Formats: sequence, structure tokens, C-alpha cells
Amino acid sequence: MEIKLEDLKILYSSEQLQTRIAEVSKELNNFYNGEEVIAICVLKGAVVFATDLVRHLDMPLKIEFIRLSSYGSSTTTSGKVNAVDIKLPDLNGKNVLIIEDIVDTGLTAKFLVDFIHMNFHVKTLKFCSLLDKKITRKVDIEPDYYCFDVDDKFVVGYGLDYDGYYRNLPYIGYKE
Ligand code: IMP
Ligand code: MG
Repeated sequence: MEIKLEDLKILYSSEQLQTRIAEVSKELNNFYNGEEVIAICVLKGAVVFATDLVRHLDMPLKIEFIRLSSYGSSTTTSGKVNAVDIKLPDLNGKNVLIIEDIVDTGLTAKFLVDFIHMNFHVKTLKFCSLLDKKITRKVDIEPDYYCFDVDDKFVVGYGLDYDGYYRNLPYIGYKE
């Protein structure tokens, strides 16, 4: 599949994204109730979402970045998660919030949740994803918080890429 900018249809507009991110942020602010949070942004896809989301969060917060990859340059997952860079500070006793762009097969989410539980005794671990593609799930995992559902479409924009491109679009688009 090749994706050209002129073929893209808007699935979620910039306004829809911002409105929903503000709503989800309120849920997070209620849950954490002012307690410190370590947010972990999964590069590269979650970077746009994470930077918008954290600006709504009202507790003491630190951001860490890790880099995982599972896709290569195709539009279907390779089925194997690569920990390209997973250096993290001591998370023992912390409220940890993972910020992801999309949960698709769930392999990345499961890898990361297992990795954190294997290495740390965290106080809380929550998973917040911009998008949830439930229909393609292969492992039993659900994001604790998410903004929007996606059916079996390959989407781009707002951090999500096709072969590295389109992360800079302010909306979520798809090719029909
Ligand atoms: P999973 O491990 O299959 O759940 O895939 C997670 C990763 O695949 C996400 O972090 C994305 O980077 C990528 N991904 C899954 N679906 C899409 C899509 O529709 N567009 C762009 N990237 C996607
Ligand atoms: Mg990703």
C-alpha cells in the first residue's frame, strides 16, 4: 500500500482531537489527585499526543522517552517488538503513566507493561493511548484510558506515520 497526501480522508479533526484530549486529561487529573506522575512517552508515534496531553495535566510530572518499534516500513506489524532504547530511571514506588499513539495488536503495550512490572515495583501503572484499534488485537490487553476507537484502518497523522511520513499532520487521516 502506498499513501499519498491527496488520498487522505480526515477521521478525527484537530478540533476533535483537542476536545477529547482535554476530556481524558480531566479523568487523569481526577485519578492522580495531585500525586506525582512519571509519564513515559513511546517514541516516535506518541510524541505529538504526549506533548499536548501533558500540558493539561496538573500534578508534579516528569516525562521520560523510550523508543520501541514493531513496524519497519510496512503497514502491518512485524509481530516482534524491538526495544530500540528503553533506558528508564528508578520507577519503584512511582505512579507511572505510559503514553502511546495506538494499541493495535497489543504486542507493544504488553511488552512495555510486562517490562515495567518485571523491573520495578511501581505504585500505579496506567496506559493511555490516543487510539484503540480493538479489532486487530492479538493479546489480551486494553488501554486504561484512550481518546478514540479506530476500526481496521491504517491511520496516519498527529504522530502516526506511514514509512516515517505524515507525523506532522494536525489530524488523523486514513486512505479509503
Ligand atoms: P501493536 O504492537 O501492534 O499494538 O502496535 C503498536 C504500534 O504500531 C504503535 O505504537 C504504532 O506505532 C504502530 N501502528 C499500529 N497501527 C498503526 C496505524 O494504523 N498507523 C500507524 N502506526 C500504527
Ligand atoms: Mg508507536
